[in-house]
Amino acid sequence: MNIAIIGTGYVGLVTGACFSEMGVHVTCVDIDTEKINQLKQGLVPIYEPGLEDLVRKNTAAGRLQFVTTLTPCLSAVEVIFIAVGTPPEEDGSADLSHVLEVAREIGRNMSRHLLVVTKSTVPVGTAHKIKAVIREELDKRGLDLTFDIASNPEFLKEGSAVKDFMSPDRVIVGVENEKGKDLMDKLYKPFLINNYRIFFTDIASAEMIKYAANAMLATRISFMNDIANLCERVGADANAVRRGIGSDTRIGTKFLYPGCGYGGSCFPKDIKALIKTAADNGYPMSVLEAVESVNEKQKKILFEKLQKHYNNNLSGKTIAVWGLAFKPETDDIREAPSLVTIDLLLKAGCKVRVYDPIAMNAAKKILGTQVCYCSDLYDAALQAEAVILQTEWKEFRLPSWDTLKRSMRTALVIDGRNIYDKNELKQKGFHYYGIGG
Ligand SMILES: NC(=O)c1ccc[n+]([C@@H]2O[C@H](COP(=O)([O-])OP(=O)(O)OC[C@H]3O[C@@H](n4cnc5c(N)ncnc54)[C@H](O)[C@@H]3O)[C@@H](O)[C@H]2O)c1
Repeated sequence: MNIAIIGTGYVGLVTGACFSEMGVHVTCVDIDTEKINQLKQGLVPIYEPGLEDLVRKNTAAGRLQFVTTLTPCLSAVEVIFIAVGTPPEEDGSADLSHVLEVAREIGRNMSRHLLVVTKSTVPVGTAHKIKAVIREELDKRGLDLTFDIASNPEFLKEGSAVKDFMSPDRVIVGVENEKGKDLMDKLYKPFLINNYRIFFTDIASAEMIKYAANAMLATRISFMNDIANLCERVGADANAVRRGIGSDTRIGTKFLYPGCGYGGSCFPKDIKALIKTAADNGYPMSVLEAVESVNEKQKKILFEKLQKHYNNNLSGKTIAVWGLAFKPETDDIREAPSLVTIDLLLKAGCKVRVYDPIAMNAAKKILGTQVCYCSDLYDAALQAEAVILQTEWKEFRLPSWDTLKRSMRTALVIDGRNIYDKNELKQKGFHYYGIGG
């Protein structure tokens, strides 16, 4: 089978590489010429474990190719996946301009029956907007070509995207007819041989499932952060509470870790977009509004703990920030809580020394020369008056506290992910603050 994927970012590239691994001929299209040139040379522009090997192997096998325009491959493909970005607009709604531009290009140039699948996260009704735009362009050309649409939201997690795509918990597909269903079933069957979990729904429900899933996960995080903040005030231990409630099988352990707030390219924008969709439909989404407001406060909490420790006197202090990516195993720093902390530190007059195992280049594009980029966690902590742990990369889990204590000006650790043993740190002579007591 021949397919095209439009948009070669975290989702599009992983989708393309994984389908090609299953024997599908995939053309990945992106308007970013630099990205496509790198990919043609076997260089993967993002950090995602296992992705580079897949890209190189399948490019060499002739099953995966990278191009900057869709038109030349249109006559050869049966299915087109749209995986371009849907960033937030000022008012919180999803910006559909990239998605609809792709639809327009398809309508202007298609020459055979196609299945057009939305993989980008888009509000309910978008697949039908795509359909209308393609139809409009076909009408302008006076063509009566047929095409189908489908919605196939993506659930991969950055940091384990290849693994998630290769063995998904489930695949969600919204279709309009049996033809679309059969084609999507054929494409996904190779990934589901051991565990056939593909749910076919109508298109509107598929579009909603993606937002509802992210909203539920974000709700768990904000809920636990709220409980943790209360634990601190009443003398309870949030970690004990987390274990206690997580062991209830109705609740479960995942996404219940108190921390410094959720970030990344999906949760913040998807929660905003769902709130906006609800408002547009005259329904206030009160739970999600609270989820968002708790998260906004939580992203400032590490800075506030530091500020309190130093009685609001941070000017001139040197602060180390460990971890920049919004979570481990990714170079993605979009909406990362670390950026909020760093911004507050700089405004308070601190000198900021940062280290992240993978996300330093991505950070440089945003932070420029405002911070000092260090070679490892010890270098970052040199002469520092506090270490703030933002991202729980494995290499931060067991540092030598003795070495750190000797090189820091003040032995103070603010643990934004609750990965350290507060008793051990206290014994070693550190001041320690975690989340939730
Ligand atoms: N990143 C994730 O973890 C994740 C997970 C699930 C769903 N999603 C959703 O998938 C979509 C893509 O996310 P992403 O993180 O891969 O985005 P991304 O920013 O990494 O990649 C998007 C790509 O689309 C390209 N593009 C934009 N307009 C184009 C056009 N007209 N033609 C061709 N290419 C074009 C951009 O150059 C970019 O390379 C979003 O809707 C996102 O919400 C993301």
